[in-house]
Amino acid sequence: MIFFGGDWNPEQWPTEVWHEDVALMREAHVNLVTVGVFSWSRLQPAPDRFDFDWLDEALDLLRDNDIGACLATPTASPPPWFTDGLPVTADGVRLTYGSRDTYCVNAPAYLAASSRIASALAERYAHHPALRMWHVHNEYGTTCYCDHCAAAFRLWLSHAYGDPDALNAAWSTDFWSQRYASFDEVRPPRATQYLNNPAHLLDYRRFVSDAMLDHYVRQRDIVRPSGKPVTTNFALGGWVPVDHARWSREVDVVAVDDYPASVAGHLDDRAFVADLARGWATSAGWSGVSGSVGGSSALGWTGGSSVSGSVGGSSVPGRAGGKPWLVMEHAPGAVLEQGVVRALAEGEALAAAQTYTDRGATGVMYFQWRASRGGAEQWHPAIVPHEGSDTPVFREIASAGAALAGCTPSVESADRALLYDEQTMWAWQSPHLPTRQIDYEATCRRWHRALGPPVDVIPIDAPLDHYRVVAAPLLHLVPSATHRALRSYVEAGGTLILTFGSGLTDEHCRVTPGAFDDLLGIRTIRHLPGEGQLWLDDLEPAGAEVVLRASGDRPVVTEHRFGLGLARFVATDLEDLTPWLQPSSSGPAE
Ligand code: GLA
Ligand code: ZN
Repeated sequence: MIFFGGDWNPEQWPTEVWHEDVALMREAHVNLVTVGVFSWSRLQPAPDRFDFDWLDEALDLLRDNDIGACLATPTASPPPWFTDGLPVTADGVRLTYGSRDTYCVNAPAYLAASSRIASALAERYAHHPALRMWHVHNEYGTTCYCDHCAAAFRLWLSHAYGDPDALNAAWSTDFWSQRYASFDEVRPPRATQYLNNPAHLLDYRRFVSDAMLDHYVRQRDIVRPSGKPVTTNFALGGWVPVDHARWSREVDVVAVDDYPASVAGHLDDRAFVADLARGWATSAGWSGVSGSVGGSSALGWTGGSSVSGSVGGSSVPGRAGGKPWLVMEHAPGAVLEQGVVRALAEGEALAAAQTYTDRGATGVMYFQWRASRGGAEQWHPAIVPHEGSDTPVFREIASAGAALAGCTPSVESADRALLYDEQTMWAWQSPHLPTRQIDYEATCRRWHRALGPPVDVIPIDAPLDHYRVVAAPLLHLVPSATHRALRSYVEAGGTLILTFGSGLTDEHCRVTPGAFDDLLGIRTIRHLPGEGQLWLDDLEPAGAEVVLRASGDRPVVTEHRFGLGLARFVATDLEDLTPWLQPSSSGPAE
């Protein structure tokens, strides 16, 4: 069975509409709806007043129609009465209520209020027959720089580094007079005169990820006694301060939201996200070396509670050897392209859904069920548009529902993998780099297209031994465990492809010149950003064979036998990647 449905927000409609909704849901083969994501102000209209009557009625209606509820805790959007614990931007502006996602996960008042509403929901609905899954919060992502965050950051750093000198060494604080005498002197990387210290920026993102994960885990543990799987929907994109590979260990089902950037490439984009989500879900069942400093949450906030493999005895379809994953949100029959809603051609919504299920999705869900009459997203695509159900979009989604009903997710096993690391993506965003032209994610998406299908997208600490080819484009930030893992992989016979801009720094943004030179059999002479295509690594062979040269005789692609395998290097951003994706064919080195 595949979950099919979307966000249902009955609080926006009179109850007559709910009856039409569930009838239409049955028509569209909807079997799961996300309820309550933005309903905190309805569930708790005042600090000491709860109102569950409407939600009782909505969930009963779902039960009567055999539609499951993915019940949300509404903590992503606090109600107007909640004024203590709103986020502060890097510029020191305290945001006020009025949009969504205004919260600080380190503010004690917010933590208390979140736990309170989550507990109230858990108490009331843990055994409701409609309940299939818990949806904690929504798209974690708000970064805050307030004083609560400063205090929590100091604690996180003291756990990660032990003493200030270790921090000083990691952050290279002797540059620009930043040496800290004590952790108490450290602040969040707030607005400052010129460039921030890149290691400070990066650790702050890791800290925010861990602090949000702590907020998730608190709620997960509150709702878990119901025995139903617990998840949160991952928002993807460069702005999101969440290390999803690490978070995947703490959710029972990996859930992603996917909003492709263009109509033309939307199926490729969806395939990338699907392969990525599956990689997180598959790798999350085992405990590898985390990309985070210290190898785990520095505060030990989340330690020990990771669930693997099974989902607490609940009926979430999954695949052997990993957790299940699903698409919690995508736009029905449309793509948002540069802020413009573009309808998909006939058949494209089904093609989108199948792109996910062909890559193992156990659920295909949309935002949102019925288009809102008012509010900030009144023009966002919906399964039931303002014009009602006698519309192309409703027919299209209903036919996708019919096509998916009775399907089971399947996956073709891949012998090629793409390494994708969100911390490396963060590192590439830093304004201090010698170029700002590198788009890590776009480059990975391009390599993904060239490599597959089928291809797995995997975190940097995932096991590599069963792949014939592993490509790791732009792997900027490389901890020593990753260096070891990549070497062992090649030694044992694998074909590894690295590119320009790889191995530039360690996990603290400290430059590691020529870090891959021995593996690649080259000597890196200098980096030439802005030359070649985007960037050129100027090198000379030192054991490697040059298999492609640019005009002027510069080596562009090299190959080096290392142990039983092959390390290939692509020194610039080549347009045609295909010739360089083959596994080593000439067998083990002599
Ligand atoms: C996010 C949110 C949804 C909705 C969509 C569309 O994914 O989770 O509630 O706002 O964006 O913008
Ligand atoms: Zn804060």
